Order: sequence, then structure tokens, then C-alpha cells
Amino acid sequence: MINYPFGRLELGENLGITLNGTPLKGEPRFLRDLKPVLRNPEFITDQNSGKVLYMMYRSVVVDPMHSEAFRMHSVRFDITVMDSYLLDREPNKTLGHVHPEAVPGFSYPELYQVLHGRAVYLLQRLHDSRGRVSEFLAVEAGPGDAVLIPPNYGHVTVNVGECQLVMANLVSTRFSSNYGPYKELRGASYYLLKDGVLEPNPNYPDPPKPIWSKVKYPVSKDIYTDFICCPKSYAFLNDPTRIGMRYCQRQ
Ligand SMILES: [Fe+2]
Repeated sequence: MINYPFGRLELGENLGITLNGTPLKGEPRFLRDLKPVLRNPEFITDQNSGKVLYMMYRSVVVDPMHSEAFRMHSVRFDITVMDSYLLDREPNKTLGHVHPEAVPGFSYPELYQVLHGRAVYLLQRLHDSRGRVSEFLAVEAGPGDAVLIPPNYGHVTVNVGECQLVMANLVSTRFSSNYGPYKELRGASYYLLKDGVLEPNPNYPDPPKPIWSKVKYPVSKDIYTDFICCPKSYAFLNDPTRIGMRYCQRQ
């Protein structure tokens, strides 16, 4: 049982989840889907390729009265449940993607909050399709912690805990994610291994030294409740120029 001001979550079998007693309808991501981004794609066999690594529950609304606020502000709230599982030497991770530009020079940002378990968010600022990365951040987060994916950063989430990872996100409804760069370059510029080591991905030329970060985004109650209380505070999700420069430029 996971209790937050926005609601009561209960984890079920097969990465299922209920919110205030109602089962949510999700979309699975299978192990075979991650083949292009695994450090060791040969880990996938006919026997394990159909394993569900994580379930994505999109456009979750606790109360139908909240739907209008999300629609008016072009924002959705998603929940993801990730299994605790080892992909050869990598803990379970998401496929990874980049967001398109919202305004010239700034791609859409995104806000995550860990609800249960422990995550590391691997953020990288990619300059071109040849894999030139100017900054690589590994941001650690535990229950209640919120992490901003700043404009112009691609992101991968790794479940580094011993249990399932449950995380939520607020994101614009005005774009579709682009998985292409991560597939073409076989994952992020570093692979996070189970012992916490960041191993360079040889497909990236000269990646920058990784930076471990604990920087969090301020949350009052939880990102859902905060959004419903003051949706205008999240206008930056569609207009990244509204984010303070410290978040655009990072540390
Ligand atoms: Fe994203």
C-alpha cells in the first residue's frame, strides 16, 4: 500500500496497480522491446523475451473533475511500475527517449516523482545524431523525490532498488517521444551497472565525465496534488522558457 495525498496505490500481480481501489489500465514494455538499447542484447532469449519489464499507466485522473484542468493545460499524469530485475549486468531500465522542441532551442521538459522504491535518472544532453554528448547526469531519487528532466536532455530511468519502482510524471500532451537516438546509439552514453558503476557506451565518441547529482525539484504534497492546486505553476511543461535558468543550465 502506497499512500500519497492524491490517492492510495496498491501493487498487484504482474506489475498491476489500483488507485483508490480501481484497477488502472496499462501498457506493457517487454524485454524484447529493449533489445536495441541493452549493453548485452544477447541476454534476450526466446524464453525471456516476453517478460514485462514495466507497465505504463498514462493519463491517470483520480477524480473526473480534474480532467478539465489537465486538458486545459495540455498536461497528463502518468504512473509507471518497473519490476526489480537484472538485464544481465544492468538493473531494469526504461528504453530512453528525447523530446522534440517546444520553442526554438528548448525541448519539452518533464517532471518525475518517485512514489515507491529507488531510481536513478540518467540524463544526457545530446548535440547530434553522431552521439556528441555535452553533459551526462545521474540523479538519484527515493520515495517522494521529484526530478526535473530539463529541456534538451534525453532520459533513461533505472530501477536501482530491491523492490518494484513506482514513479509518476507530469508531461505535456503536445508531443510524442522520440526513441530513435537511444536505439541508434544502443542506449545512453553510459550504462549503469548493478554495482553502481557507470560504464561508457562505446558507440558514443568521447562522452563527458558523468556527474552524480541529488538535485531535486521542490514538491509541496505530490506532483498530482500540486498540479491540481496550481496548474499555472506547471506552465513550464509547455513553455520551457518559464523554467528558472538554474534548471535549464543545471549545475
Ligand atoms: Fe520523457
